[in-house]
Amino acid sequence: MTERKRMTLPGLVAKAAEGAQITWLTCYDYPTAFLQDQAGVDMILVGDSLGMTMLGYDSTLPVTMDDMIRHTAAVRRGAPNAWVVGDMPYMSYQPSVETAIRNAGRFMAETGCDAVKLEGGAEMADRLAGIARAGIPVIGHLGLTPQSASALGGFRLQGKSAEKARKIVEDARILEEAGAFCILLELVPDRVCRLITERSAGCIIMGLGSGPHAHGQLLIYHDAFGLYPKFTPRMAKVFADAGALLRDGLAAYVREVTERTFPAPENWFGMKDEEYDELVRLLG
Ligand code: KIV
Repeated sequence: MTERKRMTLPGLVAKAAEGAQITWLTCYDYPTAFLQDQAGVDMILVGDSLGMTMLGYDSTLPVTMDDMIRHTAAVRRGAPNAWVVGDMPYMSYQPSVETAIRNAGRFMAETGCDAVKLEGGAEMADRLAGIARAGIPVIGHLGLTPQSASALGGFRLQGKSAEKARKIVEDARILEEAGAFCILLELVPDRVCRLITERSAGCIIMGLGSGPHAHGQLLIYHDAFGLYPKFTPRMAKVFADAGALLRDGLAAYVREVTERTFPAPENWFGMKDEEYDELVRLLG
């Protein structure tokens, strides 16, 4: 097993300052967290995308705090070294600053995660500032924010026009001033991402489908490993097709059981002849 040191906030900041790329993947369960930790992934996001990837909903909106707590705690148990981020689900922070602080506190206390993430720009800056003031590391999320997909016109590139891009650049400055130690830019043009990264005054900028200029990259695990059955978005590269591997394995299982080639003698346990004879005698 690969030995690694536990990631820390100063460790992430140092990586970004040195110009080393930060790696970040979503993860929702214990065994996958174990593999990601061993592979040396710096950050893990327990995203509310689990509504789609793990629970089969069409959006992230039905996901609850209880869902997030259960999955984040499992990921923490599997990944003791990566920097684990709990994603605040729909309506766990939008209603008020107090709601946001209470739910961010639940994440930290009940799961042992290292930070939380919430979606939105200037309009959510007071929620983000409240969480930061409570001593909880907090990440902002701009560009395509899936909880607002309906208002944004669907899952599509954000900030294509100069005016829309200016709002994203301005939102990033506001979130940084409000106390975000990191901002995720999802599906914005590469040059908008570069401008925000260049203008950051110490805030770590992470990209998802936003080009190569950020301090690091996030990918949805299921997209990157062929595990989401509905589609693979253009922004994701399939690094290994685990879905195809599993399908082949499942077909082999069905075939071997049907053909009675599984189980084989090495897969079962026998009994001494004298014990078996005695058993038959006892049963009459
Ligand atoms: O829930 C999630 O996985 C996310 C990503 C889409 C960034 O928020």
